[in-house]
Amino acid sequence: MHPHYDFSGKVVCVTGAGRGIGLAIVQAFATAGASVCLNDIVADRVEQAAAQLRKEGRDAMAFVADVADPAGVASMFEAIDQRWGRVDVLVNNAGIEPVSSILDHSLEEWRRTLDVNLTGTFLCTKEAGRRMRAQGGGVIINIASIAGKSQPLYLRSAYAASKAGQVGFTKEAAREFAVYGIRVNAVCPGVIITPMTKRLRQNENQMARWRSEIPLGRLGEAEEVAALCLWLASDAASYVTGAAWHVDGGKNMA
Ligand SMILES: NC(=O)c1ccc[n+]([C@@H]2O[C@H](COP(=O)([O-])OP(=O)(O)OC[C@H]3O[C@@H](n4cnc5c(N)ncnc54)[C@H](O)[C@@H]3O)[C@@H](O)[C@H]2O)c1
Repeated sequence: MHPHYDFSGKVVCVTGAGRGIGLAIVQAFATAGASVCLNDIVADRVEQAAAQLRKEGRDAMAFVADVADPAGVASMFEAIDQRWGRVDVLVNNAGIEPVSSILDHSLEEWRRTLDVNLTGTFLCTKEAGRRMRAQGGGVIINIASIAGKSQPLYLRSAYAASKAGQVGFTKEAAREFAVYGIRVNAVCPGVIITPMTKRLRQNENQMARWRSEIPLGRLGEAEEVAALCLWLASDAASYVTGAAWHVDGGKNMA
């Protein structure tokens, strides 16, 4: 393994790590030697995933919390303090994607989407950022979306607004935290094969059209998003901060 990709001795926290992209990210960091905290709002998912990692000889802790709940997020970082005494990488991955016309969107669902996707990113960044500042550095990665940067989807206004908010927040955090040795980047996946996109992927006509517009000609795998996160968190990306990275098979080249 190239030394840049050896995360032994590093502590990595991934939110929404019970399945999909978050699970692939946490598995990639654990395989690279990191101690990992797996967060999710669904207990079974993270507890099973953490148990599986421990069976493989990895150092893994599950923590059940809603990222939109300040008390839950604070408790999670206290548990990380108690177990490891540091946090080197935070991946804000937890997210929800309601599908609705703007004309029918309930205010409750709009607010919940912003709370989970955007406020959750803020709350975890605040807790991790304080610790990273005290320890002299760290890396934060926000899993946004092409929907928040360059590609309107359809019937996903709250989602797109929250993801654009994450991209703006990433730049502010990168600017503010650079002096503390903390790098902050956003990752903007295209359509990735996970449970979140199951319904979308069942529409074969729409998918055929979508695939035909992807230069690489296929949807993405969660592991391909995880690979970008591993690079962004590594010293190989030591001069990289404040950017929003597409991982979408070339669909958006801006
Ligand atoms: N799959 C895609 O095509 C795609 C594309 C672009 C961006 N993304 C983003 O990537 C991230 C992961 O997506 P995915 O496809 O793996 O989704 P997913 O639905 O398969 O998994 C998301 C996980 O987050 C957890 N979660 C939801 N709300 C939470 C909360 N309040 N607190 C803690 N955990 C919570 C869920 O329980 C679930 O385990 C999301 O932020 C999503 O917006 C996904």
